[in-house]
Amino acid sequence: MRLVVMVSGSGTNLQAIIDALHKGDVDVDIVAVGADKPCVGLERAEAAGIDTFLVPLANYPEREQWNRSLERAIANYNPDRVVFAGFMRIVDAQLVERFAGRIINTHPSLLPSFPGAHAVRDAMNFGVKVTGATVHEVVADVDAGPILAQVAVPVQSEDTEESLHERIKSAERGLLVNALAALSREVNFDLPIEEQS
Ligand code: GAR
Repeated sequence: MRLVVMVSGSGTNLQAIIDALHKGDVDVDIVAVGADKPCVGLERAEAAGIDTFLVPLANYPEREQWNRSLERAIANYNPDRVVFAGFMRIVDAQLVERFAGRIINTHPSLLPSFPGAHAVRDAMNFGVKVTGATVHEVVADVDAGPILAQVAVPVQSEDTEESLHERIKSAERGLLVNALAALSREVNFDLPIEEQS
């Protein structure tokens, strides 16, 4: 299963996939790691000898152009799946359609609760006693696609946003690796990626 992994930050979920494939725990090939900005995630990919690409939003006068450029950069690698592993940008419906059913995202809450960019903070502010992480298929609406896997994480009274997010990420990494292992056993080769325009 050819994966393009998209990151924006520390890339610990990416690292978990790299470690799992080195251990033989998951049968995937990370053909490239892309990012919207220079970040530790890209450095992790480079350290592992994986191809990288950078498509910074700031380089494009219109968001539409950024989406098309990102779409081409991903399509260049003919991925079976695209993994948003801490990718903090919203992509447009055309990009989602181009890789329909093949993009998966990991999110630090039990969706459909607490979608968006501040899921951990929002869950804490609401006062939930249990939150977690969700691996789901990406659709045009943000954080709304079919759920593939979830893990629950209890909130502790002394938690800060940072401590809770770290505990969620510890659980999330295993969840993502397990979800990819399951998906890699049922790669659908009947869905060819369109020719690049
Ligand atoms: C993860 O918790 C992921 O769910 C979250 O960013 C973190 C990335 O950590 N993504 C989102 O919030 C997307 N809305 P990492 O860079 O260490 O893998």
